Amino acid sequence: ICNMALLTGNWLFDIFAFLTALITVFFAWTKWCHGYWQRRGLFTPPPTFPFGNSQNLFTQQESTGDFFLRMYDYFRAHNKPHGGLYLMFMSAYMPVDPEIIKNILQNDFNHFVDRGVYFNEESDPLSAHLFSLEGAKWRSLRIKMTPTFTSGKMKMMFETLVKCSDQLTIEMDKSVNRDSIDIKDILVRFTTDIIGNCAFGINCNSLKNPDNEFTKYLKLFFLDNFWENFINFLTFIAPNVMKKFGVKAVKPVLSKFFMRVVKETVDYREKNNIYRKDFMHLLLQLKNRGTLADDGAIFKEDDKKKEVSLTMNELAAQAFVFFLAGFETSSTTMTFCLFELASNEEIQEKLREEINVVLKKHDDKLTYDAIMEMHYMEKVINETLRKYPPLPILNRICTKDYRVPGTDFVIEKGTKVIIPNLGLQRDSEYYPDPEKFDPERFSEENRRTRHPFTFIPFGEGPRICIGLRFGMMQTKVGLSVLLKNYKFSISQKTTLPLQLDPTSFIMTTKGGVWLDFVRV
Ligand code: HEM
Repeated sequence: ICNMALLTGNWLFDIFAFLTALITVFFAWTKWCHGYWQRRGLFTPPPTFPFGNSQNLFTQQESTGDFFLRMYDYFRAHNKPHGGLYLMFMSAYMPVDPEIIKNILQNDFNHFVDRGVYFNEESDPLSAHLFSLEGAKWRSLRIKMTPTFTSGKMKMMFETLVKCSDQLTIEMDKSVNRDSIDIKDILVRFTTDIIGNCAFGINCNSLKNPDNEFTKYLKLFFLDNFWENFINFLTFIAPNVMKKFGVKAVKPVLSKFFMRVVKETVDYREKNNIYRKDFMHLLLQLKNRGTLADDGAIFKEDDKKKEVSLTMNELAAQAFVFFLAGFETSSTTMTFCLFELASNEEIQEKLREEINVVLKKHDDKLTYDAIMEMHYMEKVINETLRKYPPLPILNRICTKDYRVPGTDFVIEKGTKVIIPNLGLQRDSEYYPDPEKFDPERFSEENRRTRHPFTFIPFGEGPRICIGLRFGMMQTKVGLSVLLKNYKFSISQKTTLPLQLDPTSFIMTTKGGVWLDFVRV
């Protein structure tokens, strides 16, 4: 063995020398990475070895929302319009001035087209969806998908939402006047049923049967241990490295299940020319006709087939992203909303009053037109999304060098950009007494006094949430049905003040939101 020694004549010393050299190189490299913003003259909180500024994120001691809110407050406290962060070895640019944010998201969007998140069309086809796709591919898909979300298409799907809300009251009635409920649990099942129906055309009925196959697989998507969260964090900061290591965003067993479900639905509908009023029908039209039409046909002889119609994998990935983006965001919004309403009885009463008055005008029927008339409801939901945006940050990647207007600072191509929407929305300069739940902040008059980019829960610019209308619609339907029938108060089982779950990227609470409720 001694013959193998190369440097010192002793293999033990060799190993020691090698490790020392490795650690020194790693240390020097990290130091160099953590000097990036200083070299470029941008303000940054002092980094520590080896996490940079992200120690609490990395160790999951702080939620994504809390962490970036703290960073936002740090830059604001130092009177900076923007600053630099180190997430491990990765440098990220964070603007806090709403005017810079407006330029990045909207005016100078062509420098920030992509999100720079992981996707892999070949080995992980479900990950190649509208949220993650880049450049020309994203643009062409976005153009094709946009007509899927018009108000006409929302109206078409409305009856499915009403059907799911009937089941919601049946389930609620089982606990009424008796037990507290974890409201998030039941709302997740409600939105799962809606999106399961609308995106996949599947009646999974998770309200009635929480242990159904669909929900079981869906749970696999969520990360439930430290290791999975850790890998997820690395995938966020270094998607290309993780791609090289063959890491997949969608677990193979989940991917197999969704692919099978979509294939079966597609085959069945194509074979039998089935028309259902849902996203799946619209996706099928895009696949086979290359365009959307206001009819029930999946195929049409005389349609000129566009060269870039959706492939089977592309169709599946879009159904998948509608599902993921659709059920968790809206159920979280309804959960926080009901928490605030249970804590603020007057606001709850006022909203219930509006629901009753509007429904009376519409023959006691919950219709699309009725919910569009609920203007106080809109303010209440906006105030909820202000305090608790389901996605507490937006992200972009700089795709072309960009000089920040009014400064000499240039964001280099390839730099990650993080837009702190939670920070903006909890900033006392724009929202005095930011912890207070006050829907009147969203009166026309009050809105006009603020920079529009201080409220961006759905993002902004060409990459704004495509499902905004659908998300608002299902949130309004859920709230209308619940508040019309039940009166809510906070249960003793809820831990106050609410704490954010550090293991979840989406804003969600640790320990659930437990409410008591009685029939109105
Ligand atoms: C309350 C509900 C919802 C909230 C708060 C929400 C929020 C967001 C946010 C913040 C973004 C990123 C925007 C940006 O980067 O500028 C986004 C993107 C997206 N959302 Fe939503 N969302 C909601 C509901 C939905 C629903 C119901 C769907 C689908 C049915 C959906 C599908 C998408 C998709 C596909 C994208 C990516 C768009 C693109 O990159 O072109 N979302 N959403």
